[in-house]
Amino acid sequence: MSYSIPAEKISEIKHSADILEIISDAVVLKKAGRNFIGLCPFHTEKTPSFTVSPDKQMFYCFGCGIGGNVFTFVMKQEGIAFPEAVRFLAKRYGVVIVDHITSTGVKNQMDERDILFQINRQAMEFFHHSLLNPQTGEAALSYLTRRGLPPRILTDFKLGYAPPGWNHLTTFFSQKGVALSLVEKAGLISRRQNGNGYYDRFRERIIFPIFNTHQQVAGFGGRVMDDALPKYLNSPETPVYSKSRSLYGFFQAKPFCRQTGDVFIAEGYMDLLSLHLHGIQNAVATLGTAMTEEHIRLLKGVSQKATLVYDSDQAGIKAAQRCIELFKAHHQLEDIRILVLPEGHDPDTYLRQFGAESFRNAAIEASGVFSFLMDVAVKKHGLSLEGKLRIIQEMEAPLLALTDGLARLSAIKDLAERTGIDAGAIQEKFRKTHGSFKAAPVKTMPEAGNKFEKHLIAMMLQFPEIIPDLIEKNLIEYISDPLLKSTGTDILSCFRKMDNSSEQINDLPSIVLMAVDTDEKKRLIASFSIQKEEWGIDGCRKLIGQIERNQKRDNLRLLRQRMKAAEESGEHELLRQLTQECLDGQVSAGG
Ligand code: CTP
Ligand code: MN
Repeated sequence: MSYSIPAEKISEIKHSADILEIISDAVVLKKAGRNFIGLCPFHTEKTPSFTVSPDKQMFYCFGCGIGGNVFTFVMKQEGIAFPEAVRFLAKRYGVVIVDHITSTGVKNQMDERDILFQINRQAMEFFHHSLLNPQTGEAALSYLTRRGLPPRILTDFKLGYAPPGWNHLTTFFSQKGVALSLVEKAGLISRRQNGNGYYDRFRERIIFPIFNTHQQVAGFGGRVMDDALPKYLNSPETPVYSKSRSLYGFFQAKPFCRQTGDVFIAEGYMDLLSLHLHGIQNAVATLGTAMTEEHIRLLKGVSQKATLVYDSDQAGIKAAQRCIELFKAHHQLEDIRILVLPEGHDPDTYLRQFGAESFRNAAIEASGVFSFLMDVAVKKHGLSLEGKLRIIQEMEAPLLALTDGLARLSAIKDLAERTGIDAGAIQEKFRKTHGSFKAAPVKTMPEAGNKFEKHLIAMMLQFPEIIPDLIEKNLIEYISDPLLKSTGTDILSCFRKMDNSSEQINDLPSIVLMAVDTDEKKRLIASFSIQKEEWGIDGCRKLIGQIERNQKRDNLRLLRQRMKAAEESGEHELLRQLTQECLDGQVSAGG
């Protein structure tokens, strides 16, 4: 692998970065012995099998088999490539990477993302000042005040104003010497139809900056102050902004979600601000799109429960059905509720009229996704016998989407209670239509090799001090499983390159992880390094003895076969040689 970032830099970053700190940002972790465990952010689970080892600076999920070091985690979590992950961590830990090396496409991409974030930040400051400056922002400020937003919210969320006119940002950035093609890439200006120059995207609108989880400015929303259309205009998809990955208010909400273990998910900018204003700070908004898997993944890192807030039955039904689809994709939070506000209200208007306490009480009453859909079905079909059968029919898909056995059982019980049809009968009906009716299996650890061979590799990673012994006895040569053998060989070659200081030796798993070339091997290494092994160094030595004895036994068996063949074909000289070999082997095997 060749990257433009020098190996020493990568190693420096690896040593500065703390895997526990990085993962804690995205996953709620609890201490368990020397390790930390939590719910895996990469697959759905109810009991934690996602394990982080601060000693080894590695993570591994015993449920889905994803594992690696701090770089692997950042790559998966942020959806970026290795060089970007390196730069991401370099920045976070203040490691300076000097770019004297020829640029690669990836490096340019990363630099460009940085520049786009900077451009967005400058634009945000520009909009914010335009709002606070009475000469430009008076009308906007009075609009926001009329809508009940105090100065505190305006500064906390860095709201702004894009004044009327077509050239504010082009002028602003030209004066700073920023290439307008980059400002266009950030989605702030567009090229004129006739090809001459650019014009501002946001004009005469209230501006809502959208931060990503790292408090970088990813994009913007802009609202008109009258009835003009479109009411809201948002940043287009850019290298730093993607609607399906963004949640308005997420950065601000994170600590509050962690604190409460719960999050409210609203739909609009104003709803989110209103929730904050009313002291409900564990809240985010999806900005006019349905919930996506990415949203759920982000939220799962900070909260176990979620309440989706909607302003009509229809919107609630759509969202609930969407959740069911997400359940299928194995990404559910443990407990999702749907709160539908009374006709004509969104969270913003509801809070203003009825206050925070009333909102919280309504939230407590909110139904889970399944029972919400059941209520909808009951309303639709009524409780005549025919209606009941229709209800059961309609609940079939949601029921099948519940992959957790207990959750499904409790849903069936709900359905039985609601329709008065026996739970056993409902279950029987589904079993008939859907065969096994079991939870979908998840991918597990690679099932390679025999037990001894696996132990041997695990041992090399966990007790590198025994490696010289293995080299001497040539044990890796004899591993039969190709994947394990090739992994063992990789470990040996890393070991040979090291200077054998104890600090370096402890780092072996992580060094090997970076050196191997396939995901399969990376998984294997992460899992073997983190695995809890009962045996210590003495156990290792015993194991080596055992493997040696096994090998000798196998060799003897082979020798005997060859001797028999030599005898049958009358090759006397060969037979003599083999007999000698056999005797030597037995002597050393016995001694
Ligand atoms: N939205 C959008 N583009 C639109 C309309 C809506 O992106 N043309 C998104 C916005 O994020 C908006 C959300 O969908 O906040 C909900 O839309 P709507 O209910 O129409 O607006 P409100 O959030 O209620 O805004 P306001 O209270 O200011 O009218
Ligand atoms: Mn509204």
